[in-house]
Amino acid sequence: MACYEQLSILVLCICLHRSLQLIPLPEYIHPCAELSDECFTKATLDAIPGIVKGIPEAGIPPLDPLYLDKNISIVLPGNLRMTFHNAKLVGLSSCVPDKVSSLRDKRLFIFDMHCNFTIRGVYSLLGRLLLFNLDTEGGAKVKIWNQHIRLEVAERVVINEKGEGHYKINSYQYKADYGTDLKLNLTNLIRGNPEISANILKVLNSDSQAFAQEFGGPILDYAIDYAMNVTQRFFDAFTYDQLTQVPLTDDFFEKE
Ligand SMILES: *[C@@H]1O[C@H](CO)[C@@H](O)[C@H](O)[C@H]1NC(C)=O
Ligand SMILES: *[C@@H]1O[C@H](CO)[C@@H](O)[C@H](O)[C@H]1NC(C)=O
Ligand SMILES: *[C@@H]1O[C@H](CO)[C@@H](O)[C@H](O)[C@H]1NC(C)=O
Ligand SMILES: *[C@@H]1O[C@H](CO)[C@@H](O)[C@H](O)[C@H]1NC(C)=O
Repeated sequence: MACYEQLSILVLCICLHRSLQLIPLPEYIHPCAELSDECFTKATLDAIPGIVKGIPEAGIPPLDPLYLDKNISIVLPGNLRMTFHNAKLVGLSSCVPDKVSSLRDKRLFIFDMHCNFTIRGVYSLLGRLLLFNLDTEGGAKVKIWNQHIRLEVAERVVINEKGEGHYKINSYQYKADYGTDLKLNLTNLIRGNPEISANILKVLNSDSQAFAQEFGGPILDYAIDYAMNVTQRFFDAFTYDQLTQVPLTDDFFEKE
C-alpha cells in the first residue's frame, strides 16, 4: 500500500515535472500516427494558419507578413537597375500543401505546395527603358499567383541530455516555378505622366518571367531560409514525442 502511494507520487512528480518543462502543443498541431502522405499533408494544412500567426511561447514570430531586412538589387534587360528595400512578403498563410511526404529511409521530408504572394516595398529604378532615362523611386507591389514550391528538408532526431528527442534540420533545398501569373505595379515612375508610366509598366510586365526569376528568386531564398530557421526553433521547442506518434527507429536518431 505504502509502496503504491510512493510509486504514484513518484509518477505524479515525473508527470508534473515533464508537463512543467514542455510547452503544450498548440491545438492546431495534429501529430501523425503513421507515415502516410495523407496524414502529413492534412497535418501540414491544419498547422500552417496557426504557425504563421506565431507561437510566442516557443519564440516563433508571426510569418505573415514577413519583413525582409535586406535590400534586393536586380538588373533587368537593357541594363536597368532596380533596388528594393523595406520589402514585406504577404502570403505564407495562403500556402496550400499539395503533398507532404516523409521518406524515413532517406531522412527527408518533401513538401509540394503552392502559394499566392504579394510583395510590397520601396523601389528605386536607374537606367534606360524605352526612350527614357529613369532615375526614380516609389512604391512597388508585385503579385504572384499559384507559385509552386517543392521543398526538400533533410533531418534527423537528436536525443538531448534530458532524454528528449528533437528534430534537427540538416539541410534543405527548394525549387519554385514562376507561378501562373505575375503583376508588377510601381508608383511614381514618371512624375506627372501617367500615360508613359503605364507604358513603362506594360513593358516591365511583358517580361514577367524574367522579372519573377531575377526578383522573386532572392525574396523566396530569404523567405524559405527564414521559414527553415523558424521551423528549427519549432523543433527545439517541441519534442519528437509531442510532434509524432510514430516510434523512433534506430537509424533515425542520434545521441547528442
Ligand atoms: C537599403 O536601401 C536603402 C535605400 O537605398 C538604404 O537607406 C539602406 O541603408 C539600405 N540597407 C541595407 C541593409 O543595405
Ligand atoms: C490564389 O489566388 C487565386 C485567384 O484569386 C485563387 O483561385 C487560388 O485559390 C489562390 N491560391 C492559394 C494557394 O491561395
Ligand atoms: C497601380 O497602383 C495604382 C495605385 O494603387 C493604381 O491606381 C493603378 O491602377 C495600378 N496599376 C496597375 C497596372 O495595376
Ligand atoms: C537563418 O539562420 C542563420 C544561422 O543562424 C543565419 O545566418 C541566417 O541569416 C538566418 N536567415 C534568415 C533569413 O533570417
